[in-house]
Parts: sequence; structure tokens; C-alpha cells
Amino acid sequence: MQQPDAAAATPSGASKSLPGTPAAAPPAISTAAPRAPAAAAAAAPAYALPTCKLACVMVGLPARGKTYIARKVARYLTWLGHHSRIFNVGNYRRDAVGAMQPSEFFDPDNEEFARQRAEVAINALNDMIGWLDKLDDDDEKSLSGSLNFQPPSASVREGPLKTPTSATPTQSTRVDEASKKPPGSASTASPGGRPSAAYSSTDHAGGAARVALYDATNSTPERRLFIMEQCREHGIDVMFIESVCDDPKIIVKLSSPDYKGADPEKAVEDFQSRIRFYEKTYQTLDRSEAEGTISFVKLINVGSQVIVNNVRGYIQSRIVYFLMNLNITPRSFYFSRHGESMFNVMQRIGGDASLSPRGEQFAKRLPEIVIRNLGEGTRLTVWTSTLRRTKETARHLHVPKVAWKQLDELDSGVCDGLTYEEIEARYPADFEERDSDKFNYRYHGGESYRDLVHRLEPVILELERHYEPNHSIMIIGHQAVLRAIYAYFLNIPHERLPYIKVPLHTVVKLTPKAYGCEEERFSADIAAVDTHRERGTPLNPSPRLNPSGLAHTHSLAPSSLDVVSPLGRISLNN
Ligand code: SIN
Repeated sequence: MQQPDAAAATPSGASKSLPGTPAAAPPAISTAAPRAPAAAAAAAPAYALPTCKLACVMVGLPARGKTYIARKVARYLTWLGHHSRIFNVGNYRRDAVGAMQPSEFFDPDNEEFARQRAEVAINALNDMIGWLDKLDDDDEKSLSGSLNFQPPSASVREGPLKTPTSATPTQSTRVDEASKKPPGSASTASPGGRPSAAYSSTDHAGGAARVALYDATNSTPERRLFIMEQCREHGIDVMFIESVCDDPKIIVKLSSPDYKGADPEKAVEDFQSRIRFYEKTYQTLDRSEAEGTISFVKLINVGSQVIVNNVRGYIQSRIVYFLMNLNITPRSFYFSRHGESMFNVMQRIGGDASLSPRGEQFAKRLPEIVIRNLGEGTRLTVWTSTLRRTKETARHLHVPKVAWKQLDELDSGVCDGLTYEEIEARYPADFEERDSDKFNYRYHGGESYRDLVHRLEPVILELERHYEPNHSIMIIGHQAVLRAIYAYFLNIPHERLPYIKVPLHTVVKLTPKAYGCEEERFSADIAAVDTHRERGTPLNPSPRLNPSGLAHTHSLAPSSLDVVSPLGRISLNN
């Protein structure tokens, strides 16, 4: 791992070190400007620009779901079009000293181990600040175009890091897997940096923020103050997110590379000993920290109580709102497109057509597929759009139904009711634009996929909020809408979202897990036209049979280790 620049020092010439660690702690971040005391650095200007650089710093003992929460926040923000990335200190530690460390490694009284742990924490912090500090050309374009305000003033962005920055191998290899995005995935410009003609660079609904999640225990006020000071020197806002769990009933999925292949009993014993070491120094967040300037959200027993302190700003508020809706009730959601419609058969997009005879057949088959899969004692509520084809598909399911306007199909504006051939003939430039940047392309008088994602945010929050055990939700929706919802759950980047395959006459069951989402697909074995069109290809007009039976099942959840302890099931993560 690349070490911080040895010359990096505070203006006084002394190396910065994490408080509470031995003097030999490694040098930390270099600063261009003299370091201001916490209170002065925190003094708010009369008018503060909207946030575009935010560090969400996790706090809490091991096994409190910090990684789970960090990943969910990162996925939510990425889905909304913000830049987000997780910096997991446990990963840095495993890289530096290996995974198989005994619990004594976490003993705060062991100077050598404390020094090693401080070093990896600082490396992660440096990488995070480097990433947040780096507003490259693309981001400058996207920010100035999308936020409708100027990027932060030069004084905020000044002060190049001498320590590892985004270009270092350290950062690129240490980013949490769940938050990785292919290059350019959140770009608002079409390939080549040219804004889409149909998507004016100034008409984004929201701004693109950069949000880093610093995933570690950060269990003492001294360490938290140190992180705040480092971030503030780089114009980075900090919001702490603490997870406090004392409810033995709370079950968190186990998954930790630290105990891969270990005997489960020994793993639990060692992990509990590690927790006890952390408990020696752990202090919960307190509003008096950093002379009362600390900003935090404290989650107690995931969703049962939320304490919000000193939280300001658009992106911070969105994160708090999202966290307030989180719960860990095990549950599955069902999704299906409406049955084949007459417009599908005619290859026309949009409209409000009724089902075709094959679509009607699917509607009749649906109760059997769903009820068989729900199992005994599970209630079902069906959400449809307000359009005829979804309501007709749901009509044989004799369960409560809700019609959501938000679930209506992507609005194709002037192209509504046309075939792709007609669109190509009438609007050739638009047809090409859409192919080159389908996520951002907005139909004249209609919507883009990006618009659709924002329209669907309340639906996602409602799905996250849904906590009744033995009560499933089924969405009978449309191709574009289900692509957007599916992309949220499976963390699929924006440029791939408009090409996700959601065949007709197929029910998809998604079961969110601690670190992924399990997926099953059930085909009704009823032929339907294929409405999926790959980039630059014509539609295939002939009906086809979707893959049959209960054939397709796969899980994105990484393998996990379930260990039951006196606390219930505990997470071996971190
Ligand atoms: C920490 O947050 O204290 C370190 C996390 C780890 O090494 O797993």
C-alpha cells in the first residue's frame, strides 16, 4: 500500500496523528492553509453554497450494521445520480496486515497494534479526501451544468493533497466493491462530453453531489474531531451516522472476510472479544462534540428511534430521510410487467391500450404463479400504474390494490403511440441521440430515464419503509419503470439501466439481503412479443416464448457466515 507523503506535515512541522494513538502514528494529510481550530473552521458563512462534497462518517461498535447502512446509502445516492463511494477501513486493514488477526489486535492498550490501526485509518481517510477533492473535468462540466450554481469557490477547492490522491493505486484498489461504478456511469453528458441535444445541460432536476462513506468504528470523540478537522480543511462537510443496537432480537446478516473458513464458534468468541476491546473506549455521539458543531444522525435499533442533530443541506436531508425509512424486516417484492398489450403487438410505444389475447391469458395465469410462491399466511398488496394495461393484468388477483401515478410508463412525449420505425423516420436526430445516451435522453414533451428515476424515488422509499412481516408487495408495471426499480435493488449503473431485460409474462421476485439482493424469475410460459431493443438494433417483431418454468434463479448476495450469539445473530463485518 502506498504510504502518505513523508513530508506531509502540519504547518508547525509536526506530523498529524490520530488522537489517542501513540506518537509514532504515521504522517497524515498535508494542508495548504494553516489549520483552523474546530470552532473557527466550523463557523458558517452568511450564505453557504449547496453541498457538493460530503463525508458521511460511520460510527458504532462492530456488528451494528454500519457496512450494511453505508452500502445502502451509497446505492441510493448512486441511483439518484450522485457520485458516491465507500472507504472501508477494515479492507485497508486486511490489505495492510492480513485478515486473520486475533482480537488482541483491537486492544486499545497495545501500542504497536494501535499504531498499525491508526495508520490504515489515516490511509483510508487520505484516499477519501483525495477522492472528494478531485473535481475532474467531467465533474466540473456536470456540476456547472447540472447544479445551476457555480462550483465551490477556488478557496474551498485549493490546497492540493501531497498524500495519496484518487490517482493512487491505494484508492482505486480500496474502494468498497458495492460502490464501484464503471467510468462515466453518472455522467450527464453524452459520449464525448457533449450534452444531449434533447437534454439541456441546465435542466437537471437536482444537483450531483459527491458523497463519501467512511466506514469504520470511529468510536471516540477525539477521532471524530480529527476527521472533522481534516475534512473541513478541504471544504468537505461531515455528517456522522451512528448505528446503536442493543436489541438482542435484531438480526444482522453475517459476512466478514476476517473469519473466512474459521470455525463458527471460535469466530464468535473472537469477535465478541474484539467488541469488548472496542467497548473500552467507545463513546456514543454527543451534541456537545466539536464545541457543539457536530452534525449527526443516530439510528437506534435500525428504525425504532432516530436522533438528528445539526443536519443542514439538501443532500444531508435526503440521506436522513432515507435512513428514517430503513428497516431490516426480511421480505420479498414481486414485480411483473403488464400482460402483452395491443400496442406491444403493433410495436407502438406508450399509449393506454388494453391487453392482447395473450396478455389476457397471462393476467389469468398470474394468481397461480404468485400465490404458489407467496407461501402460507403471506398477505399481498398489488401496486399498479394508472394505465389500463396494468390494471387489467391485476384484475384476477383478488387482493388489495393501489394505483400509483408515479408508476406510469416513461412519458414518450411527441413519440407517444409511434413505432420505433416511425420515430426514426420523423425524428432521426433524436433517434440517434437516444441511442447514444439513452439514460439522459428526454423525449420532446416527455421524460428521460433520469427523470423517471427521480419520479420513482417515493416508490423506492415506500418499498424500503415497508416493514410488515408476512406481507408482500407486488408491482405490476411497465418496462422502463421496472428497469429503474430493478436497477436500484441490484445496483445497476445508469448507462446499463435502460437496457435491462424485463421480459413480458415473467414474474420477478427480489429478496433484499444484507449485502445484495437475491433474484428469482418465474415465467408464465405464454408467448409474447419481445419489446427489448438493444442499442442500434431494430425490434424483433415476432412473438417468442420466454424461458420457461421456474428456471432462472440467481443471487447477487456474496456468501455469508451466519453465526448465532447470545446477542442473536451478529454481524462479523469489520
Ligand atoms: C476501525 O474502524 O476501528 C477499524 C475497522 C477494522 O479494522 O475492521
